[in-house]
Amino acid sequence: MMNDREVLSLVNVSVRYEGSSRHALQESSFAVREGERVALLGLNGSGKTSLLMAVAGLLPYEGTIAVDGIELSSKTLGQVRRKIGFLFSVPDDQLLFPRVVDDVAFSLTRQGVDGAEARRRSQALLSTLGVGDLETAAPYELSHGQKTRVALAGILVHEPRLLLLDEPSGALDPPGKRDLAGLFTSHPAAMLIATHDLAFAGECCTRFILLEGGRVTRDSPRIGDITL
Ligand SMILES: Nc1ncnc2c1ncn2[C@@H]1O[C@H](COP(=O)(O)OP(=O)(O)OP(=O)(O)O)[C@@H](O)[C@H]1O
Ligand SMILES: [Mg+2]
Repeated sequence: MMNDREVLSLVNVSVRYEGSSRHALQESSFAVREGERVALLGLNGSGKTSLLMAVAGLLPYEGTIAVDGIELSSKTLGQVRRKIGFLFSVPDDQLLFPRVVDDVAFSLTRQGVDGAEARRRSQALLSTLGVGDLETAAPYELSHGQKTRVALAGILVHEPRLLLLDEPSGALDPPGKRDLAGLFTSHPAAMLIATHDLAFAGECCTRFILLEGGRVTRDSPRIGDITL
């Protein structure tokens, strides 16, 4: 049975970029509960990335955001971030180490996991994501889809409660998308998945939220209720 515990809650959250006269996100409210994988759908510029960035504490916002019951603030930022795994839409933004395996292992060694154990867990996850043979490669040598898989390994390895995924399927080939949908479906974390890939969302999400011009205009358990 689905647990009712809220892993993420937004109450009247608005984002306006400095110097901009209009809101990128306007008074958005919804919650994501344990076991839910929520698709955040919407056209280019509808506010999906802005919403994810606000939740990760990367953008100033108005309103209230809480992760796992902890209200996001400058005081709780570190605590909240440890509960979140964020996949950026451009994976180059999060691959920092000369070797793939060290990149993935970093989020574990930072938490105090022993180096050999961190590499073992990282290698296992890279294999699950279909890029086990790339562990000694340099991130800059990889294709966009390969980078996405490596970046995903880097956020999944420390088992966050909440995954914020910005266009995770965008660079993946059809088998890659199928594998990823399967992986997400069997993964225990609550997820908020920003995408305009309706087929992918339909395969792995349990609920569908539509953003239009920065406002939530639909929130439904049926993807058939959404038109982009
Ligand atoms: N750094 C920025 N400075 C000013 N305005 C921005 C900035 N980033 C985004 N915006 C504006 O905020 C609005 C929402 O953008 P956002 O990137 O959140 O949309 P999105 O739904 O993620 O779009 P896409 O599908 O193209 O990724 C847009 O009108 C955009 O022009
Ligand atoms: Mg975006």
